[in-house]
Amino acid sequence: MKIIDIFKLQNKDKIEIAKSVFKDVYTNANYTLKPSERKKIKAYFKRLDKKEPVEYILKKANFYGRTFFINKNVLIPRVETENIIPHLIKFDSVIDIGTGSGAVGITVKKENQSINVLISDISIKAIYIARKNAQGMDIKIIHTDLTDKIPINEYKCIFANLPYISDMNALEESVKNYEPHIALDGGLDGIEIILRLIKELHTKKWKGTLLLEMDPQQIAIIKEKKEIIKDQFGYNRFIKINY
Ligand SMILES: C[S@@+](CC[C@H](N)C(=O)[O-])C[C@H]1O[C@@H](n2cnc3c(N)ncnc32)[C@H](O)[C@@H]1O
Repeated sequence: MKIIDIFKLQNKDKIEIAKSVFKDVYTNANYTLKPSERKKIKAYFKRLDKKEPVEYILKKANFYGRTFFINKNVLIPRVETENIIPHLIKFDSVIDIGTGSGAVGITVKKENQSINVLISDISIKAIYIARKNAQGMDIKIIHTDLTDKIPINEYKCIFANLPYISDMNALEESVKNYEPHIALDGGLDGIEIILRLIKELHTKKWKGTLLLEMDPQQIAIIKEKKEIIKDQFGYNRFIKINY
């Protein structure tokens, strides 16, 4: 495997695999590394030893078969999230709230150019990354808290993968120490921001379909009439609420 392809793995042992690939490169008798390359690989090793995700080291993540630029200011898009794409591309207009790297909204647009897509995030650093990934594409990008500055009535579908972690201390090291807390911390019971969005859409009398990615254990807290969508691992991962 080439170094450049490590980030494409969907494996929990990615850090260990990355180490072995870097080691193969370092010890390869058929290729003499330049001093600058040796230095770079040694530095990668140190970072992997500290459990830094390989995606942050290579500044790349794979989502739905495409490569996205990422850095420590955005969540590494997860493979589970890919399961929502076929549902989103059924709509002719989609908002991706809390877009992070832009992976979901950008993928929707790439899958079907005719869909009207808007992506947003409360983090200006995430917006910067999403903008870079969406360069040259006809996608609206808004820096805002939930739906504040978004013309929601122009869109039929809203997707959001908002932070839903209730106990930040329970997270594994590679997540807790490296991924941005603004993308993880869901506040009270881990569901504060999600509940705020559900309420906001009622208050604004929005008409459309809301699709939310959630912690499967939090789904029961949502009292609205909802349809549940599973991810590829069989977990109840998304809910669909019609407004
Ligand atoms: C779990 S990450 C999801 C990132 C991306 N959608 C993905 O699936 O890879 C949550 C994102 O929501 C954003 N966020 C947190 N609170 C928000 C809010 N009140 N309004 C808008 N975005 C918010 C974070 O900055 C972060 O980018």
